[in-house]
Amino acid sequence: MNPKVNYGMVGGDIGAFIGNVHRKAISFDPRVRLAAGCFSASSENKNRETGEVLGLDPERVYKSYLEMAQKEAARPDGIDFVTIVTPNVTHYEIAKAFLENGIHVLCEKPLTFTVEQAEELKDLSEKRNLLFGVNYSYTGYVLAKVMREMVKEGKIGKVINVNAEYPQEWLLDDLHPVPGQELKLSVWRKDPAVAGISNCVGDIGSHIENFIYYVTGLKIRRLLAVTNHFGQPLDLNANILVEYDNGANGAYWCSQVAAGTLNGLAVRIYGDEGSLEWKQEDPDYVRYTPRGEAPRILTRGNSYLKEKAAAWSQMPTGHPEGLHVAFANIYKAFISAILASREGKNTDEFDFPRVTDGINGVKFIHAVVESAKNDAKWINLL
Ligand SMILES: NC(=O)c1ccc[n+]([C@@H]2O[C@H](COP(=O)([O-])OP(=O)(O)OC[C@H]3O[C@@H](n4cnc5c(N)ncnc54)[C@H](O)[C@@H]3O)[C@@H](O)[C@H]2O)c1
Repeated sequence: MNPKVNYGMVGGDIGAFIGNVHRKAISFDPRVRLAAGCFSASSENKNRETGEVLGLDPERVYKSYLEMAQKEAARPDGIDFVTIVTPNVTHYEIAKAFLENGIHVLCEKPLTFTVEQAEELKDLSEKRNLLFGVNYSYTGYVLAKVMREMVKEGKIGKVINVNAEYPQEWLLDDLHPVPGQELKLSVWRKDPAVAGISNCVGDIGSHIENFIYYVTGLKIRRLLAVTNHFGQPLDLNANILVEYDNGANGAYWCSQVAAGTLNGLAVRIYGDEGSLEWKQEDPDYVRYTPRGEAPRILTRGNSYLKEKAAAWSQMPTGHPEGLHVAFANIYKAFISAILASREGKNTDEFDFPRVTDGINGVKFIHAVVESAKNDAKWINLL
């Protein structure tokens, strides 16, 4: 079968982290194939080698993203969309180059350094009638979608409180530096010139912000925050209190120095008619407690789940689905939207995180940093 959609990737050489997860997730979809790439700007060897390993035509492995955007746009079989999986500082320029060349974009988060840059990308994508996804990956899990539908259906009533966290431990050694020794591999996350104004909140706190918005639909009206740098230029830990547009409060905690934790995104959403609890590390289950009844553990793909979102399941129940499937679900929606847009159909209902989610993420990061700098002052977001 000839693929209907060609895509290209910027970043994601063979030694990189998230590019490979994207490629595997996209390969779940038989409608798409990888046709071009610029996998590394700093190492020509890695760039070429990655293209070889992935079986690409060497002519379509480019030395720069700009050359790739221009040459692909000029080809009759050029890429339909680009996936940007480079460090944060590069997202804006790369996304802009592809939009200017008429190519749909799916970009990693945090979208840009500044709110203005993110808004400019939104304007450009609208002007060019191009789709723009931002990879808030955890919203691709089936139970994230089921919880969202349950909240919409009123199964927990009005949301009155949220408690959510995303702890990791991988930077704990930074609290015990050994003179002369390099700390950890992906040091760019700790470098303001590459990561932006935040490390921990930008990298993982913003996932909490987006996930809670996705599930509850609540917008953050204002927030206050304290962050901890432990002698580093950027934050390694943050506690954030939010107030939503419906008057309810939420407490978010993210950390990269929490011993014994890995990718512990966990959310607890309390309504006046019940509650929902879900953990990223056990993503096939959700704990649902209706008011006055015993808690129950629901899993995706079982017939007692009447929510339409359960249809996103790709595996029979009991076979765990993981991060690759969550990414794959985001791509499934994005690629379906590209095919619909080709036929001039409306693409608003396709369920993937949009450029507006990216803008909200950047606003959230800036508000947290501003609050923390000002002795936990409330910062308005609406
Ligand atoms: N959504 C998620 O769950 C998630 C998870 C991990 C990372 N991320 C995001 O993905 C992005 C990449 O993170 P990572 O951990 O994979 O980083 P990484 O350092 O492992 O990989 C970055 C890649 O980008 C390449 N690169 C850098 N500048 C380039 C340029 N100008 N042109 C072409 N290639 C270039 C590097 O050679 C490397 O291949 C970051 O923005 C990060 O926040 C998101």
